[in-house]
Amino acid sequence: MRACSVKQGIPVYSGKAKSLYRTDKDGELLVVFRDDITAFDGGKKDVLSEKGSLNAQVSARLFSLLGEHRIPTHFIRLIDNATMLVRELEMIPLEVIVRNIAAGSMVRNYPVREGTPLDPPVIVIDYKDDSRHDPMLNDDLIIAMKLLSREELARVKDLALKVNIILSRFFEARGMTLVDFKLEFGKYRGEILVGDEISMDSMRLWDAKTKGSLDKDVYRFEKGDVLAVYRQVTEKVLKRGENP
Ligand code: CDP
Repeated sequence: MRACSVKQGIPVYSGKAKSLYRTDKDGELLVVFRDDITAFDGGKKDVLSEKGSLNAQVSARLFSLLGEHRIPTHFIRLIDNATMLVRELEMIPLEVIVRNIAAGSMVRNYPVREGTPLDPPVIVIDYKDDSRHDPMLNDDLIIAMKLLSREELARVKDLALKVNIILSRFFEARGMTLVDFKLEFGKYRGEILVGDEISMDSMRLWDAKTKGSLDKDVYRFEKGDVLAVYRQVTEKVLKRGENP
């Protein structure tokens, strides 16, 4: 691997579906997308061979797209099909969710029908803490807990909405609807960057015509062949020559 060899075989961090490794360069990490898939706070778990590489390739393409639109992200480049080289961030323990159409926890927790369009989009910010089941925050809690300053919070929301416009157009041009997605942010030399991943595990995508699920809901609710769906999305995302 050029200028980014793994220094040690032990990950510096291992999450539910990705592991992070140090490189021989300070401030850069390798993110290895594993084939593990989990849902319901880890209550449902499986290993699906190839799933890691599909998510890594989609993430890499979407981070590059954001970069082309001047959205700052941690992504540097893809090293192999399942490994991204990224900037090392000081992660902010928030899950920033943008919703264009009501689905998932929004329809479970509130009297809103699945499929209701949300215009303007709804931003929901959860505290990333599995032991507390990622409780929802509000602006005052984020400030009181010193997770972000008011200015930083405004910046995070502004970036999340810009990302939403870019990704929504991208998927629309490929016959898919971006229902909702989750972003994570971190700081790099004082600047707020989009980190983590943007993949079928972290988005809800529907087929624009049939409204069928093209994301982790296929796994969560056993709606069909997860790998076949992930492959189909990856193929559409990687296809060149489509606008935008
Ligand atoms: O997925 P679930 O219905 O439990 O939660 P949600 O609040 O409706 O999730 C909104 C979006 O964020 C979905 O696209 C999820 O896949 C994504 N999400 C995620 O990637 N990671 C989480 N820990 C929670 C949500």
